[in-house]
Amino acid sequence: MSELNLILLGPPGAGKGTQASTLVEEFDLPYIATGDILRAAVKEGTDLGKQAKSQMDAGELVNDEIIVGVVAERLRADDTRDGFILDGFPRTIPQAGALDQKLAEMGRSLTAVLLIDAPDDEVIKRISGRRICPEGHVYHVDYDPPEREGICDRDGEPLTQRDDDKPEKVRRRLEVYHEQTAPLIEFYDERALLHEFDGAKPKDEVAEHIRKTLSTLRLEETA
Ligand code: AP5
Repeated sequence: MSELNLILLGPPGAGKGTQASTLVEEFDLPYIATGDILRAAVKEGTDLGKQAKSQMDAGELVNDEIIVGVVAERLRADDTRDGFILDGFPRTIPQAGALDQKLAEMGRSLTAVLLIDAPDDEVIKRISGRRICPEGHVYHVDYDPPEREGICDRDGEPLTQRDDDKPEKVRRRLEVYHEQTAPLIEFYDERALLHEFDGAKPKDEVAEHIRKTLSTLRLEETA
């Protein structure tokens, strides 16, 4: 079986991270979420974190050059040999071009781009109720609450709200998505890599639709 090299694309709060956790369990692939990498770097106070913090706090994108370097290094690691799930990267056309080039240098290519879309008003409701644990497990106070309020079901850690999930930052993140990231939809559609999913549906339905799409892709590959 060949590699499964996937990108999760979509607006903030559409459910990329939520669907990624199902995909990771099912396919046992490394999950590379640039937002998580950057938040960890900010927390640790590394050079990368210092460079990224003000842009993240403002809801803006981190410079292409910085993030391309981070992802390229991560993709060279041995655990990506059978594939990877990229979430939050690429986010601009230059990042997508750089990714194509880096993969080509490694003799690799993308399998599919999974677009999880949802309208802005739904995204705002979701992000305002999102809570996360330090390990990155994601909940929603109404749509997906933990069994004990404020505590992660999986590891008992306290749940918090992300700094950039405050309403005024969410609005800016959405603007940035529409201006700089949404053009990737056409970019990948033209390359016949795009598969679209209605992220406004319940999460299990979205997961089932993704599962069926990936099974079809694998069947086509072996046909
Ligand atoms: P990042 O961490 O990537 O944030 P994002 O793309 O804005 O995505 P989110 O994590 O907010 O949303 P999601 O789609 O994963 O939603 P989730 O599954 O949690 O990036 C943060 C920042 O880092 C950027 O602003 C930028 O500054 C920087 N950055 C990162 N990558 C970069 C790059 N490549 N270049 C430059 N800068 C970069 O779901 C949301 C909520 O909804 C949860 O509460 C969940 O429980 C709930 N939910 C999910 N699915 C459903 C459903 N189907 N029904 C009901 N509720 C649901």
